[in-house]
Amino acid sequence: MKRREFIKKTGFGTTSVLASSSVIALLASCSKSNMMNGGMNMTGQPVPVTEGNFSRLLPIPNITGSNSSLTAQTVTANVNGTSISALGYQPNGILGPTIKMNSGDAANIIFQNRLSEKTNIHWHGLKIPTNMDGHPEAIVNPGSLFNYQFTINQRAGLNWYHPHPNGATAKQAFQGLAGLFIVNDAEEAALNLPSGNYELPLVIQDKRLSASGIIYNPNMGEIMTGYMGETIIVNGAASPYTEVSTRYYRLRILNGSNARIYNLALSNNADIIIIGNDGGLLKNPIVVKTILLSPGERLDVLVNFAGVATGTELFLESRMFDNGGNAQGKQGYKIIKFKVTQNVTDNFTLPAILSSITAISPSTSSRTRKFVINAMQMSAGMNMTGIHRINDKVYDKNRIDENVTANSTEIWVFDNSQGDEPHPIHLHGVHFQVLERSGGRSQVTASESGWKDTVLVMPRETVKIIIPFSTLTGVFVFHCHNLEHEDDGMMLQYQLN
Ligand code: C2O
Ligand code: CU
Ligand code: CU
Repeated sequence: MKRREFIKKTGFGTTSVLASSSVIALLASCSKSNMMNGGMNMTGQPVPVTEGNFSRLLPIPNITGSNSSLTAQTVTANVNGTSISALGYQPNGILGPTIKMNSGDAANIIFQNRLSEKTNIHWHGLKIPTNMDGHPEAIVNPGSLFNYQFTINQRAGLNWYHPHPNGATAKQAFQGLAGLFIVNDAEEAALNLPSGNYELPLVIQDKRLSASGIIYNPNMGEIMTGYMGETIIVNGAASPYTEVSTRYYRLRILNGSNARIYNLALSNNADIIIIGNDGGLLKNPIVVKTILLSPGERLDVLVNFAGVATGTELFLESRMFDNGGNAQGKQGYKIIKFKVTQNVTDNFTLPAILSSITAISPSTSSRTRKFVINAMQMSAGMNMTGIHRINDKVYDKNRIDENVTANSTEIWVFDNSQGDEPHPIHLHGVHFQVLERSGGRSQVTASESGWKDTVLVMPRETVKIIIPFSTLTGVFVFHCHNLEHEDDGMMLQYQLN
């Protein structure tokens, strides 16, 4: 951010006299919690959630396949009972279709940009060549068309797509551009998991709604904490409900929010059985009561409504949690209502083994790289980007930050031990395994076993991951998936050679 924009965003009028030194002092204090206050809303306050009445039926995005067209455009969406203006990939609302493909299939997706600004599509979770990956500089101009073509060369799992133009990812995603991308394979099919009406995609997002649209205007505090909304939506609808039968359901959950982290639980405290995450199925089902899910992360879970009396209403909710920085975890709220309406018999039995996953031995790593998450250091020139940085750097399209050898395995360490904010760290072009977490939660959580592409690094935590790189040579980005952090420069590039 340039100085003029900074002044605009913080609300200092052009007539106020503010010495640069006090701007520096003010910004330098940004990394210190609770030090910024006063009437400027720069502390990164929590945005309290306003629950609706859970009377709107959960929409399910339509499904398309290998040959799809997506058109980024201004749309009219009914998010909370009235029509508002938003962005979408198809005419009638936010969220694109769910693209469903089998492993091995070739995708041919015709993308049109009918926005008045540049955009592109990143296929989050897909291991595809760099020229199809939606790198922040690989943009599609307004009025232009791009043909995304790639082959699905990975196991079954829940992926997603969203815009990734440098500096405008957060705004475009918040205003509605996102969709699911499901990969299926034979290993998954053999498990006979609940399907059809019993497999529910749940895209959880928060939005800031006005009578006419989705408001996106982060101030400095919200660039520091991430931009959040008061309305929680699922599949594009605020506070929805769905009717369920007394049996197992497979819930395929994406946190598609810009910044908000959810601590998911069922209101009757029933078991949540985790069967998969970002990179597909886990080795074995893992039973939990709560799961922290940060922006960009996905979950594949089973919930069993057998034994719940018909007529019962229960909720998927987010509970309070600790150590969420200035703005997160301070409130519990409901997300979606399940109305148990039908008694059925269920023949599904939970498999003890889901998939074969080999833990990668740290001894196979040829190199360890360390990434320290730090706060802005003021430098001459008053270039205000990069409130949060990686190794004291902000994104620079002309700089390759890390050179990595194709086919090698490396350990990367993300150190947020000095940080005050949570950072979901995401790598393009790979799936990785989480080796270790020290500080904070001090453990690898249940939903972090198996394969990941995004990992939450909370304040005071250091997380170590192991990455088998592929042969997809070229330049990929890795970044914080708090989209305000990303657009503010918390993103670096690695080149696979
Ligand atoms: Cu989902 Cu680089 O992002
Ligand atoms: Cu991605
Ligand atoms: Cu971040």
